[in-house]
Amino acid sequence: MTTDDFSHADDWGPEKIVTVSDTRTGMRGVLVIDNTARGMGKGGTRMSPKVTVTEISRLARVMTWKWAGVDLFFGGAKAGIRFDPTSPDKEAVLRAFVRALSSEVPKEYVFGLDMGLTERDAAIIQNELGDRGAAVGSPRELGGVPYDQWGITGYGVAEATHAAAQWRQQPIEGARVVVQGFGAVVAATAHRLHELGTTVVAVSTSAGAVYEPDGLDVNALLAARAIWGDALVDHIEGAKQLAVGEELLLPTEILVPAAQQDVIDVTTARELQATIIVEGANLPITPDAQTVLAERGVAVVPDFIANAGGVVAAAYAMDARTSAFPVEPEQIRIAVADRLRRNSITVLEASARDNVTTHVAARRLAEQRVRIAMELSGRIKPDICEIRI
Ligand SMILES: NC(=O)c1ccc[n+]([C@@H]2O[C@H](COP(=O)([O-])OP(=O)(O)OC[C@H]3O[C@@H](n4cnc5c(N)ncnc54)[C@H](O)[C@@H]3O)[C@@H](O)[C@H]2O)c1
Repeated sequence: MTTDDFSHADDWGPEKIVTVSDTRTGMRGVLVIDNTARGMGKGGTRMSPKVTVTEISRLARVMTWKWAGVDLFFGGAKAGIRFDPTSPDKEAVLRAFVRALSSEVPKEYVFGLDMGLTERDAAIIQNELGDRGAAVGSPRELGGVPYDQWGITGYGVAEATHAAAQWRQQPIEGARVVVQGFGAVVAATAHRLHELGTTVVAVSTSAGAVYEPDGLDVNALLAARAIWGDALVDHIEGAKQLAVGEELLLPTEILVPAAQQDVIDVTTARELQATIIVEGANLPITPDAQTVLAERGVAVVPDFIANAGGVVAAAYAMDARTSAFPVEPEQIRIAVADRLRRNSITVLEASARDNVTTHVAARRLAEQRVRIAMELSGRIKPDICEIRI
């Protein structure tokens, strides 16, 4: 970015950008607080050699919409450290970054996990500032909430799927499911969808796809993943092997793309057979394809509604920083199910009512919530638009 680049700034934010550096360790990083109308800025902390101010600003904005979409009272923020997380100097750089932001943390920002940071790094951050409140995502042994390990995001994706099926008055029991990807998110999604009585007929990884019309054994898939990782698709006996991507077009009621972005384009959207699509991944459906799916009557639960389980868990993690009582995974699962089910239905209903895609409906809902908060707190003049939430 050029030194005078405000291209990522608009009326929503960012409210504050702090860039920091340290010549001794070579640390260079940034904190972006996007919009705090609904609460203090909260979002993960990323470490990557390619971090830019623009990238972190965009991610901070995504957090503004995510928190508003899930209707929890935090604002958008994100932090980034431009450094290789595999370097042996990682800890020294992380400590330098955290020290440099000690005026902002934890009052204006609390560190969290994103690409390149682990639970142990969250513990290092707490240690560096001598404050358990400085980071979320620390290990359970330190009172943290390891929601990634608990598969909370994937669990929420499954609950959003169940809500969409109920909304469409389609039975979940016996419904066929195709999932794309078999990573952290899908493992938990498949587990929960299996509990709900669905039949998982196909899964894929970057190594290939497998299809069994009578249903795959989900527990065997999970066990195979633990041994072979993405190569699990080569070890499922009796299942038909397909090329990556072919699984999207299989006969199924439910499709959960949870791997990459832009995998469903207009052509795929016209051809796929699912009646419910729940976005586990971020941005798996192109905007044009979203319109095609809406025209075809496919119920789509958008990414920042369906995969917001981690965000709900992060809110619990924020509370846990100041509590002596450990948070139990079941407590979070109940809250995630409740909130994501309600949000999914709200968005599906708003989309049907206003004749727009669910993505447009979700974004409108989030924007409206932030705008109202800005109006009520006197940040902007009241809008005379009709308020419908
Ligand atoms: N982990 C979370 O809590 C979380 C939260 C919100 C959103 N997401 C999003 O969900 C998606 C998956 O995240 P994850 O944590 O499960 O990642 P992961 O790295 O654990 O797993 C990704 C999986 O996708 C597979 N894959 C990659 N390219 C593929 C392709 N073209 N076709 C089929 N499979 C392919 C990989 O082989 C792997 O099995 C990402 O888009 C991520 O941004 C994750």
